Amino acid sequence: LILKAEMAQQIIDLKQQKNALILGHNYMEPALFHTVPDFTGDSLELSRKAAETDKDIIVFCGVEFMAETAKILSPDKMVLVPSSQAGCSLAESITAADVRKLKEQFPGVPVVTYINTYADVKAETDICCTSGNAKQVVESLNSDTVIFLPDEYLAGNIARETGKHIIFPSKTKGTDKDVDVQLIGWHGRCEVHDQFTVEDIEHVRATYPDAKVLAHPECKPEVVDAADFSGSTTAMINYIRDNHLPRYLLLTECAMGDNIHAENPNREMLRMCHVRCPHMNQIQLKDTYNALLFNQYQIIMDEDIRQRAYQAVNRMLQIG
Ligand code: 13P
Ligand code: SF4
Repeated sequence: LILKAEMAQQIIDLKQQKNALILGHNYMEPALFHTVPDFTGDSLELSRKAAETDKDIIVFCGVEFMAETAKILSPDKMVLVPSSQAGCSLAESITAADVRKLKEQFPGVPVVTYINTYADVKAETDICCTSGNAKQVVESLNSDTVIFLPDEYLAGNIARETGKHIIFPSKTKGTDKDVDVQLIGWHGRCEVHDQFTVEDIEHVRATYPDAKVLAHPECKPEVVDAADFSGSTTAMINYIRDNHLPRYLLLTECAMGDNIHAENPNREMLRMCHVRCPHMNQIQLKDTYNALLFNQYQIIMDEDIRQRAYQAVNRMLQIG
């Protein structure tokens, strides 16, 4: 513990010397989350902080697509992600070529991409969204038909919230153009949220009928349906803070559970504590220290891709 406290202090000193900003996603482990970030938050909040900063360096304690989004918004800054291994199963599920193919298949249909994608995919799309604003983004398009990529479950959840239908082009043959579709999806999944089931919820409710269940919208639609609340990581944190729940079950990755429990020690937290995001877990205090010391790992991006991706990310940020 003392070693971690010393390491955190060294990071804070180095951050000041190098005029750096540290952003920490809500999934960072407690020793990092509660010590070194200037701001913590969900993907949407941290994108806004990255766009606003006047610091020289942004260290993004989160996964690569998040650091890329910071670079898209702040191209003149040096943007660092403390691990070169911090991927994401959703971001890896789709390529720019896949999006181009879909656009050929459905010409003129607006394309929404979840922020959990790489810059070249964002560059092919009309507008980005996060778990915190997906519904508003889809509704802002005023289009009966929307391509929503790449999270199959988030698309399903948003289809329900907006009252639109969904089909999966890769699973249908030849009939896509004839079908009356409103929301066209892809088959990406978050490897963490995919693990939660309705049985998990039923099991907990049978033992603790007063427990409130919170599920991230990357969970399956039937899991979200069986939950009491669904929202972005920050929305879940706020729900627990504001509702004085005696007991709650958190269906999201487990370091965030530790962070929430530290803030709310008097509430009983029930959770599936084996579900840790292996990508977020790559980033510990030591990696963050090395990132600042050695300027690693820098996000480098083709300027044409960045500018096209910027259109999609900035259009999302204008939605408020
Ligand atoms: P949030 O935008 O809700 O923080 O989600 C990011 C994420 O990767 C969840 O798995
Ligand atoms: Fe990607 Fe899932 Fe990890 Fe979030 S929790 S970074 S969506 S793999």
